[in-house]
Amino acid sequence: MTALISGGSGGIGFEIAKQLANFGYDLILVSRNKEKLNTAKNEILKAVNNKINIDILALDLSDEESCFKLFEAVKDKNIEILINNAGFGAFGAFDKTDIKTDINMIDLNVKSICILTKLFLKYFKEKDSGYIMNVASAAAFAPGPMLANYYATKAYVLRLTCAIYEELRRDKSKVKVCALCPGPVRTGFNARAGVKFDIQAMEADTVAKYALKKMFKGALTIVPGFYMKLSTFMSKIAPLKLCLRIVYNFQKKKID
Ligand SMILES: NC(=O)c1ccc[n+]([C@@H]2O[C@H](COP(=O)([O-])OP(=O)(O)OC[C@H]3O[C@@H](n4cnc5c(N)ncnc54)[C@H](OP(=O)(O)O)[C@@H]3O)[C@@H](O)[C@H]2O)c1
Repeated sequence: MTALISGGSGGIGFEIAKQLANFGYDLILVSRNKEKLNTAKNEILKAVNNKINIDILALDLSDEESCFKLFEAVKDKNIEILINNAGFGAFGAFDKTDIKTDINMIDLNVKSICILTKLFLKYFKEKDSGYIMNVASAAAFAPGPMLANYYATKAYVLRLTCAIYEELRRDKSKVKVCALCPGPVRTGFNARAGVKFDIQAMEADTVAKYALKKMFKGALTIVPGFYMKLSTFMSKIAPLKLCLRIVYNFQKKKID
């Protein structure tokens, strides 16, 4: 059995890959930087005494063609799990963030999720088994002033995943989809987004462990940590304008 992890060379994706290696899954790790992928591969192989196989593919998934190419390259490898994890954010007021970065974020966080989820959903449905974990964020539950585009992309990931979940349930399908919605996690995310978190971040290995446990139990949305569970609940019941002010103040602290 094989698991495919996008963004598997670092952060949350790497920790999920490590956990799955411990469970005995062969891995396919995808990200842009081949050197980082090789380092990740060697570290995981060492941790499991070379008991599994790991393939690496250096692809920029914000490029639509790379997503189709990825599917063609791996479809004969008995994939059982797809972790759609690669993604990034960019901090700043919407009129100040770079337009090319924002478009690239939509290409990666939205377009690649749409393409890979669709291709693998058909593939998994044909054999009536398989798991898709789409990595959204706690950001998916509210609009996000100062990270507006990022929050909006993650809302797409969450809504898409929830809708597919219900379609699968109606079909009585054995295929499972879930959305992982973490709050701040200590990874390379902040450096790329250009921010420093002001509240304590969770460790990526804790998030990975919890996420996989929930995924195998068939959960729909996975929110690690009590504090984030509480804040996502509050964002559902708070009036929109209050929610906007709270999120703005929270985000603004990251650069103060
Ligand atoms: N960290 C947080 O606080 C947090 C909270 C909620 C949700 N998330 C979500 O969790 C996911 C993983 O983020 P992370 O925190 O683990 O960040 P990270 O440490 O920056 O890791 C991102 C991974 O994605 C890969 N990647 C980035 N751009 C890519 C592209 N265009 N094509 C293919 N691979 C690409 C990176 O490798 P290369 O750079 O070599 O390509 C790396 O392996 C993201 O979807 C993020 O939005 C993160």
